[in-house]
Formats: sequence, structure tokens, C-alpha cells
Amino acid sequence: MIEDIKNFGKNNNIPITLDDTMKFITDYIDEFKIKTILEIGTAIAFGSINMASRKSVETVDSVEINVDRFKIAQENVEKSNVKEKISLHLIDAMQYIKSCDKKFDLIYLDGPKGQYINYYPILLSLLNDGGVILADNIYFHGMVLGKTPTPHSLNSMIRKLREFYNLILNDKKVHTKIYDIGDGVALIKKVDDKN
Ligand SMILES: C[S@@+](CC[C@H](N)C(=O)[O-])C[C@H]1O[C@@H](n2cnc3c(N)ncnc32)[C@H](O)[C@@H]1O
Repeated sequence: MIEDIKNFGKNNNIPITLDDTMKFITDYIDEFKIKTILEIGTAIAFGSINMASRKSVETVDSVEINVDRFKIAQENVEKSNVKEKISLHLIDAMQYIKSCDKKFDLIYLDGPKGQYINYYPILLSLLNDGGVILADNIYFHGMVLGKTPTPHSLNSMIRKLREFYNLILNDKKVHTKIYDIGDGVALIKKVDDKN
């Protein structure tokens, strides 16, 4: 079923998490026995179902703004054997996180790239101690580090993503490691508040 979702995404131009990135995330979930997950950007629930399929995971909350994708995600989750673990939310991510009263072990940040910087302080407050944010597409095809020219239309988004990249590497509240996996994944680990 996961392969069908992947093929549907490819055939319909719907961005879904790259295989290497997904493996990195599920390995992390297994190693650290992650229980609670928030995903920003559901698309068609490829990531949600993959993450919810890991043994340690108890809940995955996932947020999507596009109603057509949300409906397909709902159908996919319904057909999966982890539907009881997944809650899908059709809402703008900022609106959701501002009013969220849960905390999470892992936040998979895979929504609008130009918004990562705005979401960041709120997402930090939604992490359990020792929790992590995994932010995808941190290189954005080499444009963030200037290895690939940025088309004019993406200037503003890339500038904000670059600002986010610099912030997470300098923020004393977190330890950040950047992985050359897929389109670049940032692992941002909240430093224990008690230290
Ligand atoms: C890269 S895709 C997510 C892929 C998904 N995480 C997966 O594993 O297959 C990013 C998604 O974020 C959604 N998105 C964009 N802006 C959003 C917003 N403001 N709030 C919530 N979702 C948003 C897009 O509609 C898109 O489906």
C-alpha cells in the first residue's frame, strides 16, 4: 500500500518524502523509541503512515492545508492498518501549532519552507524535553547554501529558509546536526530545560 501511495504521489506531482529521508526518520524513531509525533505537511499521508507503522509510535498528528490532498490522506489512512494512531487535521499549520495543547517527542517539519523560521519558536515549545525537530529540505536543491542559483520567484522563500538554517546552527537552546540525506535534513534537538 505504501508503494501505491508513493506512485500516486509521483504520478500526480504531489511531493512526498524521499526514500532516504523516510528511512532516516523511521530509524531515528526506532532507535529513540519515539512515541508522539507531529507532522507539518501531510500531503497524502505517506509520511504519517510510515511513521505510525513503527512499533514505539503511539500517536501521529499531521497537519495539511490543501483540501484535496487532505481527502486523499484520509482515504489512505483509513485503508492502512495504523489508522487508530493517526489524527489528520485540515488546517493552516500556524493556526494549529498556536493553539496546540499537546507536546511531542518528534516534530517532522515538512510544510511550507519559507515558514520554518516562523514556526520554529512555537515548535520548540511543543517539544517534550529531549524532543527533536526533523526539518526536511534544508538545502532546497543547493539553493540555501548558494550551490545552485535561486530563481527569482523563490528568492524570498530561500532567504527565509537560509535564515532558519543559520538560526538553528547558532541557537543555544538546541543542538543541531545537518545530514546530507535526500534534500538535507536538520536534526534539531532541544537541550534539556533542566540543564
Ligand atoms: C512536502 S509535502 C509533505 C509530504 C509529507 N510529509 C510526506 O511525508 O509525504 C508538504 C505539504 O505541506 C502542505 N502545506 C503547505 N502549506 C501549508 C500550511 N500553511 N499548513 C499546512 N500544510 C501546508 C502542502 O500542501 C503539502 O502537501
